[in-house]
Amino acid sequence: MQYSSSLITALLLLASNSVSAATSAYQPEVVSCPSNSSSLVRTSGGLSTDETEWVTKRDAITEPILKSYLSSQLNSTSTLDKIFSDDNDQKPKIAFAVSGGSYRAMLSGAGMLSAFDNRTDDNTGSGKLGGLLQASTYLAGLSGGNWLTTSLAFNDWISVQEVVDQVKNSNGSSLWNITNSILAPFGAEEPMNDLLRWAKIRTDIQNKEDAGFPVSIVDLWGLALSYQFFENGAENLIWSSLQKSDVFANAEMPFIISTAEQYNAVETINTTIFEFNPFEFGSWEHEKFANIEYLGTSFKDGSPVNSTQCVNNFDNAGYILGTSAGLFNLVAEKIDSLGLTGTTKEILEILISSWASENGIPAAYPNPFYGLEAESNDFGSNITYLEDLYLVDGGEDGETLPFVPLLQEEREIDAIFAFDIDANTDELWPSGLSLYATYARQAQPIGADIAFPFVPNTTVFVEESLNEKTVFFGCNATLLSELAYIPPLVVYIPNKEYTFASNTSTFQLSYTDKEKLGMIENGYAAAYQNNTDSDYATCISCAVILRAQQRLDITPSAECQSCFDNYCWSP
Ligand SMILES: *[C@@H]1O[C@H](CO)[C@@H](O)[C@H](O)[C@H]1NC(C)=O
Ligand SMILES: *[C@@H]1O[C@H](CO)[C@@H](O)[C@H](O)[C@H]1NC(C)=O
Ligand SMILES: *[C@@H]1O[C@H](CO)[C@@H](O)[C@H](O)[C@H]1NC(C)=O
Ligand SMILES: *[C@@H]1O[C@H](CO)[C@@H](O)[C@H](O)[C@H]1NC(C)=O
Ligand SMILES: *[C@@H]1O[C@H](CO)[C@@H](O)[C@H](O)[C@H]1NC(C)=O
Ligand SMILES: *[C@@H]1O[C@H](CO)[C@@H](O)[C@H](O)[C@H]1NC(C)=O
Ligand SMILES: *[C@@H]1O[C@H](CO)[C@@H](O)[C@H](O)[C@H]1NC(C)=O
Ligand SMILES: *[C@@H]1O[C@H](CO)[C@@H](O)[C@H](O)[C@H]1NC(C)=O
Ligand SMILES: *[C@@H]1O[C@H](CO)[C@@H](O)[C@H](O)[C@H]1NC(C)=O
Ligand SMILES: *[C@@H]1O[C@H](CO)[C@@H](O)[C@H](O)[C@H]1NC(C)=O
Ligand SMILES: *[C@@H]1O[C@H](CO)[C@@H](O)[C@H](O)[C@H]1NC(C)=O
Ligand SMILES: *[C@@H]1O[C@H](CO)[C@@H](O)[C@H](O)[C@H]1NC(C)=O
Repeated sequence: MQYSSSLITALLLLASNSVSAATSAYQPEVVSCPSNSSSLVRTSGGLSTDETEWVTKRDAITEPILKSYLSSQLNSTSTLDKIFSDDNDQKPKIAFAVSGGSYRAMLSGAGMLSAFDNRTDDNTGSGKLGGLLQASTYLAGLSGGNWLTTSLAFNDWISVQEVVDQVKNSNGSSLWNITNSILAPFGAEEPMNDLLRWAKIRTDIQNKEDAGFPVSIVDLWGLALSYQFFENGAENLIWSSLQKSDVFANAEMPFIISTAEQYNAVETINTTIFEFNPFEFGSWEHEKFANIEYLGTSFKDGSPVNSTQCVNNFDNAGYILGTSAGLFNLVAEKIDSLGLTGTTKEILEILISSWASENGIPAAYPNPFYGLEAESNDFGSNITYLEDLYLVDGGEDGETLPFVPLLQEEREIDAIFAFDIDANTDELWPSGLSLYATYARQAQPIGADIAFPFVPNTTVFVEESLNEKTVFFGCNATLLSELAYIPPLVVYIPNKEYTFASNTSTFQLSYTDKEKLGMIENGYAAAYQNNTDSDYATCISCAVILRAQQRLDITPSAECQSCFDNYCWSP
């Protein structure tokens, strides 16, 4: 069925009016500021008090789990006793990082993550990896990887296994229903339902704009994604509400971090990276952080401009989801080549043109750091004199793995499991570009405070097939002593075809249930390297304790040494 564009515009407006209310849950809310409102913004580095307290709580949970996991995979129990003794005040901490790459990254990443989850079927005991996720402290996601981490976190830390079971017993109510394109979620047969969905989204955005907040096309994508990743959509799902969810408050899940970067049309190497965590939004590079619950408030010199005009609910989880997924900037440009037809295409063209033209494409955030004293070197970011910050996909500078937050020395991470599901080769496999980009960043002034292990450039990476197997980067700490500090060991796990052709296009916006399960299953196989090494879980365990052994000057066992011979890359 085909409608004329003026008819569609009229229908959209009509539908919008019929769903509109005086306010919508998506709209940020003006509240009076808390009495300590000058502490909503901090200009010091290090962990926030909230994070420090939370991590202490998490450590008490993860340390026994980690010790018990490692003892089921490693022979040298005396080493584990030393590492986990009360005398050792820095126990091993682990983190997971999931790269960008739209639904490909989300689904493959889900499979990889499930390989470390003890809630996955038949995934515990000797030789298995299940339990390491339960023993982890941080989980960072970027773009498609962030869709995964956010969706799991905000659905009560649901397991990938449970999502898979829902799909298998499909009765039309599964989470991650991406059978139809996000652009036409009800399928071509039901254009009216699509129209109503978009009309509701349109109303939400209009209300936010009418309330005086900057809006952009990112609101549109963020809301649309929300319907796929959260039960009942997410116009009222607030990022900071995670603080109050039992599973997070009790530290029964890892600390999630999402990244985005400052829009910089000219120069990418000096681009500022921002993180969203359950407590704060900010940048390590600029040592500036703001209480995330009050994001959207106008600040000057670190205090609210008007103490009766603080803002809540700006930190909508869907909006943050959309911010980290700049892919859709490209979708908007490519709309003619996506095979959309008829009404759906028209609806989108109208929506895109109505939000893109006014405010440009990047997501606008009132800048909490506005007016603070300028830094001697702000790396050209102007972070203290822009009233609004424009944020884009964290991968736009090539760093599609969200390493920067995990490299911070204060977070004391010993091993990062890095899932690389980027598509940089001609056949859409990863090439190690994201590792190299982070490695190169430390040589720039803006990267002076981070350290990252040596990695080869993408040419060598691909030549040596490092993108086709699990590789440990940064084993030899002696070699790293010239860096700013000894960085975490990186356990690199690339997307590779084992049971399913998982090199799908970033622009594939719908997956059948069969494809979805195929991607997840292949990701699981990739994390295990298709079970080709019976010592694999042992070797992964050796990687987890290596930094602690180096700190305590314990020589790795022969068992671990042979793992390092197999898995470590040496410059
Ligand atoms: C402000 O004070 C309240 C109550 O004393 C406290 O719960 C909150 O954490 C403080 N906020 C900041 C940003 O310090
Ligand atoms: C997974 O690990 C957690 C923490 O150790 C434990 O409470 C839970 O029972 C385990 N679940 C399974 C299915 O093994
Ligand atoms: C649909 O499936 C889910 C997951 O298996 C289940 O929890 C739910 O009760 C089912 N709904 C109906 C209506 O059968
Ligand atoms: C996905 O959503 C579509 C449209 O609402 C529906 O027809 C389909 O049954 C759903 N599939 C699953 C697996 O829930
Ligand atoms: C602060 O906002 C209130 C409305 O909430 C307004 O009446 C007042 O004039 C504002 N104060 C300043 C200094 O702008
Ligand atoms: C990055 O910023 C620093 C400091 O402002 C400057 O010296 C350097 O040349 C910039 N790097 C690039 C590649 O522009
Ligand atoms: C910072 O301001 C300068 C001068 O106005 C401008 O050229 C540059 O693009 C700005 N940088 C960013 C990241 O906005
Ligand atoms: C996926 O990879 C296979 C082999 O590596 C290649 O033949 C195929 O063309 C790739 N698919 C895409 C979409 O590039
Ligand atoms: C990649 O690294 C190799 C080995 O260091 C070097 O020979 C080659 O020139 C580099 N290639 C690029 C494109 O920088
Ligand atoms: C680590 O690197 C140093 C310096 O190159 C070298 O002497 C040492 O043998 C290396 N250690 C291992 C275990 O490979
Ligand atoms: C991975 O393992 C599966 C099942 O054992 C096998 O069918 C498949 O061929 C293997 N894939 C590769 C690339 O070896
Ligand atoms: C570790 O223990 C297992 C089972 O007890 C044994 O098969 C294996 O050979 C041992 N490995 C080493 C290096 O001693």
